[in-house]
Amino acid sequence: MTDKAAKQDHVLIFDTTLRDGEQSPGASMTHDEKIEIAMMLDEMGVDIIEAGFPIASIGDFEAVRAIADQVKSAQVCGLSRAAMGDIDRCWEAIQFAVNPRIHTFIGTSPSHRGITNLDMDGMADHIHNMVTHARNLCENVQWSSMDATRTEPDFLKRTVEIAIKAGATTINIPDTVGYTAPRESADIIKMLINDVPGADEVIFATHCHNDLGMATANSLAAVEAGARQIECTINGLGERAGNTALEEVVMALKVRNDIMPYATRINTQKIMGISRRVAAVSGFAVQYNKAIVGKNAFAHESGIHQDGMLKNAETFEIMRPEDVGLTETNLVMGKHSGRAALRSKLENLGFTLQDNQLKDVFVRFKELADRKKEVYDEDLIALMSDETTSS
Ligand code: KIV
Ligand code: ZN
Repeated sequence: MTDKAAKQDHVLIFDTTLRDGEQSPGASMTHDEKIEIAMMLDEMGVDIIEAGFPIASIGDFEAVRAIADQVKSAQVCGLSRAAMGDIDRCWEAIQFAVNPRIHTFIGTSPSHRGITNLDMDGMADHIHNMVTHARNLCENVQWSSMDATRTEPDFLKRTVEIAIKAGATTINIPDTVGYTAPRESADIIKMLINDVPGADEVIFATHCHNDLGMATANSLAAVEAGARQIECTINGLGERAGNTALEEVVMALKVRNDIMPYATRINTQKIMGISRRVAAVSGFAVQYNKAIVGKNAFAHESGIHQDGMLKNAETFEIMRPEDVGLTETNLVMGKHSGRAALRSKLENLGFTLQDNQLKDVFVRFKELADRKKEVYDEDLIALMSDETTSS
């Protein structure tokens, strides 16, 4: 998708699993693993891959360069602080990509200005100089006013205006510490689009962290207010409580397209495969009840739910497991399961039962389920072999 198309009813998906995601303490990936994940992201239709932070280490530089060389379709982006040396190093790593992007940033909120020792005027000049420098190297430049959601609104507008005038093509509004709430997230984007000269020439991006569990809601609110790029990671990997989860925003836009009519280019059937691979290489297991990709996201145990599912899957499922790359809904057999689910499960395992047989097996199944949390296929097969021996 072109950045222009995204201005209307498309949202660009900017994946930062390999940069912000990898910043999770303990989530580092090897060179080869990063390339493998980048190729999977490209194949699933991600628009922009943030491949790393080239100045951070030689290893990061080399991984970003290799990804830039190998990715065929997505834009490849490198991160750099707003500093000449960072920007030059970033460009060195990404320049041979099919469509390279420099992403440069500085913290604009009062506490960040304190750290960099720049007052508002000093920071404004610095932003102008750094974005101009990046733009002289690359025609695709993303500017981030880090900690935007805690930056004074007038100063935020000023930083964004300067970045646009200096040639930034994407303006990212990070909620760096996961502090904002959905209405505020929308209001900030609306304010920038309405008040900043040149705003209609650029794409606004939303980059949310999940400290209060609102990253997905905040990202979608920003889109409804006019943002057309969502920054996210697979499994919501990222610093502290993580970033917006790619699978959540993409599936929310797909399932609730009736009220959020914005498309992405993501092939959603690739979601489960990449989620499992990212969990394996990062060493960060996905929580069982994680939306979309958790082990239990398409599992049903209670009798009423299983019965409903067997009659009509829409009763308890708002999306099809196949849409995210699973083969089928998982009816988990446990003490809450009912007779209909047991019959169906046994039929799948090759056992067709008369009603009186089912009655007997059901009693023994419940006894077993009281002793075990989950009754596996092997347990049911053992139960059936006892049944055939005793009858
Ligand atoms: O959270 C953040 O502010 C960031 C920036 C570098 C964009 O990750
Ligand atoms: Zn971040």
